[in-house]
Amino acid sequence: MAKLYINEKNKKGHINAEIYGHFSEHLGRCIYEGLYVGEDSDIPNVNGMRKDVVDALKEMKIPVLRWPGGCFADEYHWKDGIGPKENRKKMINTHWGGVVEDNSFGTHEFFELCEQLGCKTYVNGNVGSGTVQEMSEWVEYITFGGVSPMSQMRKENGHEKPWTIDYFGVGNENWGCGGNMTPEYYANLYRRYQTYVRHYDDAAPIKKICCGANVADYSWTEGVLETCFKSPQPGEGFGPKGYMDGMSLHYYVYPGGWEVKGSATEFDGKTWYKTLAKAAYMEELVSRHGAIMDKYDPEKKIGMAVDEWGCWFDVEPGTNPGFLYQQNTMRDALVAGLTLNIFNKHCDRVKMACIAQMVNVLQSVILTEGPKMILTPTYFVFHMYKHHQDAELVDSYIEGNQMVGMEDEYQVPLLSESVSVDKEGYVNVTLSNLSLSEDAPVEMAFAQMNPAQVSAAILRQEMHAHNTFEEPENVKEEVFDAFEIKDGKICFTAPACSVISFRIK
Ligand code: AHR
Repeated sequence: MAKLYINEKNKKGHINAEIYGHFSEHLGRCIYEGLYVGEDSDIPNVNGMRKDVVDALKEMKIPVLRWPGGCFADEYHWKDGIGPKENRKKMINTHWGGVVEDNSFGTHEFFELCEQLGCKTYVNGNVGSGTVQEMSEWVEYITFGGVSPMSQMRKENGHEKPWTIDYFGVGNENWGCGGNMTPEYYANLYRRYQTYVRHYDDAAPIKKICCGANVADYSWTEGVLETCFKSPQPGEGFGPKGYMDGMSLHYYVYPGGWEVKGSATEFDGKTWYKTLAKAAYMEELVSRHGAIMDKYDPEKKIGMAVDEWGCWFDVEPGTNPGFLYQQNTMRDALVAGLTLNIFNKHCDRVKMACIAQMVNVLQSVILTEGPKMILTPTYFVFHMYKHHQDAELVDSYIEGNQMVGMEDEYQVPLLSESVSVDKEGYVNVTLSNLSLSEDAPVEMAFAQMNPAQVSAAILRQEMHAHNTFEEPENVKEEVFDAFEIKDGKICFTAPACSVISFRIK
């Protein structure tokens, strides 16, 4: 029997809603088909945005959306994507599948989408192949409310009022596809480019995100911070927090090697544990990059933005290899449950995270095929975790949590959990059983609370289970009522290969 002790009175930090963020790139069928079908499409849409997809994302409570890339961002020239659609430039999407990008989804469409979703905006600028002027003018075009050449152009293109940029990424993966730079070179460019990301509206300052490391490249984090971290100095006019408000980290989980990553749907038990052990490595990455950030920023004024994470498998057989389309099974759900628990527990430093990518690419929450849409197991995990958004993390500890796996190398904890208390006073518990075979009896005990109102949901299936367009409801969130309240404790059995969420008062 595992004992889950919760001290609901010991608040440990604020869980930023943006930890539950998403990423959309001009890649494969993410933007086109997945989100945007155009106003003339037979697929029901509002101003070109798919209604079914927007409704599902709102129900999941999407807090922030990153766009337009990824690697695409450092090749994107925003002026190609504004003005009358028939005049917009057609170009080759060299990174992703070599297909024609007709720029029919651009700045206006992105902000329209975020308005429909009711989410914050995260725009990623181009440092790799763009100029300082281009970046500066994009920010002016989007956010300046007064009289200027760029705000005039926006008005002529049909949008009188400025929009709000909540987050702005100054380049993407500049150690790789964003220009193959050294940390010092990028950091100096960062200092320069970010200077011209102006705050035109003091009431809505743009949070600037500096490009951080790939996986365990700690020398990148150190080198960049050494060159361009600047402590906030009152009255210096660099924005509220010096040169940067956040630093990114990218980490993808693939069970095989980079060339052959492994199938999304066909895998054995060993690969199950290997994948989860690789997902659990996020804990070490966040801690070690965080420790370097602590050296420069002991007060934790800048946030870590894990703005690309998730499972990356071989593409679905028969699909364009450049489109990165993959299926999503219970294994993805457990990776999501485990990773989101890690982020919650590190909410003092992790302020944002964006799973890659939202629709039809990598670990998506939604897949589409023509007019059809399915929700993936990962979708339900985000849905079950949504009450953690903007709640306070509280102390939790599992006694008797053993390690499970098939080989010494790929051991993972049987159970993973995180607990928060939200504004309405509910205690939210999310718990995953990572074992393939062992059901886990759990006793949940509280410091003071005597649970009176308890509701719970579960996602449970065998490891390969997934939804298809033919069987769209094979895996879905269900009500979980197999628990008992005894002497103020909640007792239940967490089935093998499951994710459970509780809401308790
Ligand atoms: O998400 C796919 C790609 O992975 C992104 O474009 C890039 O930033 C990362 O390497």
